[in-house]
Amino acid sequence: MKKIENTNEFETKRQLDIINELKKEYEAEFKRTGINKTYHIETFGCQMNSRDSEKISGILKQIGYIETDTEDADFVLYNTCTVRENANNRVYGRLGYVGRLKKNRPGMLVAICGCMMQETAAVEKIKTSYPFVDIIFGTHNIFKLAELIKTRRENETIGGKQSDRMVIDLWKDTDMIVESLPNDRKYPFKAGVNIVFGCDNYCSYCIVPYVRGRERSRNVKDIIDEIKALADDGVKEVMLLGQNVNSYGKNLNPRVSFAQLLQEIEKIEGIERIRFMTSHPKDLSQELIDVMATSKKICKHLHLPLQSGSSRLLKIMNRKYSKEDYLDLVDRIKKAVPDISLTTDIIVGFPGETEEDFMETIDVVKKVGFDSAFTFLYSKRSGTPAANMDNQVEENIAKERFDRLLDEIQASSAKAAGRDEHTIQDVLVEEVNSQNEDLLTGRLSNNMLVHFPGDKSLIGDIIPVYLKESKGFYYIGEPV
Ligand code: 5AD
Ligand code: SF4
Repeated sequence: MKKIENTNEFETKRQLDIINELKKEYEAEFKRTGINKTYHIETFGCQMNSRDSEKISGILKQIGYIETDTEDADFVLYNTCTVRENANNRVYGRLGYVGRLKKNRPGMLVAICGCMMQETAAVEKIKTSYPFVDIIFGTHNIFKLAELIKTRRENETIGGKQSDRMVIDLWKDTDMIVESLPNDRKYPFKAGVNIVFGCDNYCSYCIVPYVRGRERSRNVKDIIDEIKALADDGVKEVMLLGQNVNSYGKNLNPRVSFAQLLQEIEKIEGIERIRFMTSHPKDLSQELIDVMATSKKICKHLHLPLQSGSSRLLKIMNRKYSKEDYLDLVDRIKKAVPDISLTTDIIVGFPGETEEDFMETIDVVKKVGFDSAFTFLYSKRSGTPAANMDNQVEENIAKERFDRLLDEIQASSAKAAGRDEHTIQDVLVEEVNSQNEDLLTGRLSNNMLVHFPGDKSLIGDIIPVYLKESKGFYYIGEPV
């Protein structure tokens, strides 16, 4: 244990030295040219990727890059997702576009990282079809970005050929958690905080455990220190991130539970809202439900992926709970936190799904009354057990079920909407409304959006708002 921590600290120092070295080089270049270098990051996929992009952005800013909102930049990075096939195809589309931009922009660097890069086939395709890419790295070594840029610049100096100039650094897995590197945040008042990396659950359809590696929890002290620093910096809301936050602490010595971690975070002055994502039903403990029931800061929202309502399919999916377990869990949560908003993920068309299985899913949707749901058509991911199952569902059948599920979810959302109409609720003011500049947009504890008139100086504050009218997915409010 001790040894790993030392390795991590050594690596932090090494990377900071390289960042400083590059910073000096970039400052010298700026003195010569008078032009600052720009960067642009395109992020695909989940909140984990968004958080990684913030870390990448922190490193790039520290080196001396300035952010720009188009791909016409000196450094363009694609942070990729591979959870479903269409995510991969979108990245190839962007690469085609950036390749054409690069022809007219000497010195431009193109990098790709993220989950898709942990797949050999995708990397091989990039090597052959997109040889202009400069840097490829994966999910385990984003902390090395400055070092990879340095290596790429040195390759240029020694004059490598196009293909051997590509710097590729991919790790299959890692124990390392490198702390204390530069960091960036999209919002000044709310922040994502990683608590667990990787996933050990091996749901049979899912590629995540193969691309994000085995589960590793950050130390309590590192998390608390980070959140205290965020609070000092004016952050009011934290979103704790992990593929399965409920299994937080299993590999720590001494063992710590997620509920205990939440209680520590609750004590931090300045933090007013705590969210977390994602919860695996199999690991959601009664201890956590009890903590949620008494907490003043944990938000009234739980994202609890169902995936399927059929106990038969859940077994084949390796989810380790049944339909009855899920419904019982939901009952206990609703009893303890009556105003909780529940959202979920559901997959339609998993191999072997019958009409009866699908109707079990519909039954759970009816019984639970989700506020909203992300619904996915099953996508075959090579390397996962489900990809080799020979009873794949025909596309037209899956699509037809998908549409029926959407109708059911919409009915469920419509029922849930308006629950808080005509009440006064606390709203974290997030931004000026994108459609109407006279309105502000904020969120309730249960994550529902509220639009209301107000001055933009309120952004970042938590204020009471009267919810005048429900519009389904949002409320029209009036500050009180
Ligand atoms: N096909 C479709 N959806 C998937 N998900 C994960 N893997 C697949 C797949 N192969 C969905 C799950 C998960 C969400 C993030 O993505 O519902 O909860
Ligand atoms: Fe994928 Fe299952 Fe892990 Fe979620 S818990 S990331 S669905 S393997």
